[in-house]
Amino acid sequence: MFYPTFRARRIRGKEVFRNMVRETALSTNDLIYPMFSAFGKGIRKEISSMPGIYQQSIENIVAEAQEAYELGVPAVILFGIPETKDAVGSDAYAEHGIIQETIRALKKQVPGLAVITDVCMCEYTDHGHCGIIKDGDVDNDATLELLAREALSHAQAGADMVAPSDMMDGRVMAIREILDNNGFANIPVMSYAVKYASGYYGPFREAAESTPQFGDRRSYQMDPGNRLEAVREAQMDVEEGADIIMVKPGLPYLDIVREMRNAFNLPVAVYNVSGEYSMIKAAAQMGWIDEERVTMETMLSFKRAGADLILTYHAKEVARLLHKGYEVSRNSRCGCP
Ligand code: PBG
Ligand code: ZN
Repeated sequence: MFYPTFRARRIRGKEVFRNMVRETALSTNDLIYPMFSAFGKGIRKEISSMPGIYQQSIENIVAEAQEAYELGVPAVILFGIPETKDAVGSDAYAEHGIIQETIRALKKQVPGLAVITDVCMCEYTDHGHCGIIKDGDVDNDATLELLAREALSHAQAGADMVAPSDMMDGRVMAIREILDNNGFANIPVMSYAVKYASGYYGPFREAAESTPQFGDRRSYQMDPGNRLEAVREAQMDVEEGADIIMVKPGLPYLDIVREMRNAFNLPVAVYNVSGEYSMIKAAAQMGWIDEERVTMETMLSFKRAGADLILTYHAKEVARLLHKGYEVSRNSRCGCP
């Protein structure tokens, strides 16, 4: 194909043609909205580094989840800020823990909304690590049992899907087994299969109050330099019964998203994490970028890289823009007024 027989610009000349040949589509069906549920009443506290995102008590979570649902966002993923934390993260698997109560309220009051839960220990342990500590490090096998209990208690409270984010080896198998043995064979596991030890989680740790009190997470989260290891990690989770595999963070790891898309025939999710959100918000506040345009271009990049699902703090804004028929992403016009 060469000029002048071929002219790449011909098909770009009219909007109608651009819309006809666009390869990548974004839809509200792709969106999962992360929410932070805090113990107490009347709480609605904005995360300073994440404008528009709040720690909220249950009645406010329900109200905002309803709003997201009405915008067409099909699912939320929940993180909990419990009343008390301890060495073994007891609230994580307590029958009336913060997340368990939030699930019940949401399923009762917004029944059409899918409730996904983050399964991890770091929001519930006083040391802030994702599992049980032994000899100064997180003990893999002792943690598995607690993660399984946590996932089961979420399912019992009514969760539609569970999403382990701890990076312990064997957690998908442990969770799959306990769910199957207790009548929850139909609850899918979305595994944070490929989760890097990333500086982009900074704002989240303020939001979830889950900063490790000593050391860091490098003995269980992945080294940012590794790509082949990502395939091995995901392979394990796929063989253990994961239904969806996730890559996290998103933008700095789009190559890994594509790697997952090519290597596996399962749905792929990507987590557009807190730091990625904060960077767009900060640059927009400075007047340095067009926020709507950059947000939608970012969403499209995930789809183009091969993601089916996007966990994003922008979910409500994106849904609003899609309803308006926003240009970057438009290829099927929404019927909404
Ligand atoms: C907890 C967890 C983290 C995130 C999701 N689940 C933080 C971490 O591992 O430190 C990060 C999400 C974000 O930054 O938006 N295991
Ligand atoms: Zn964790």
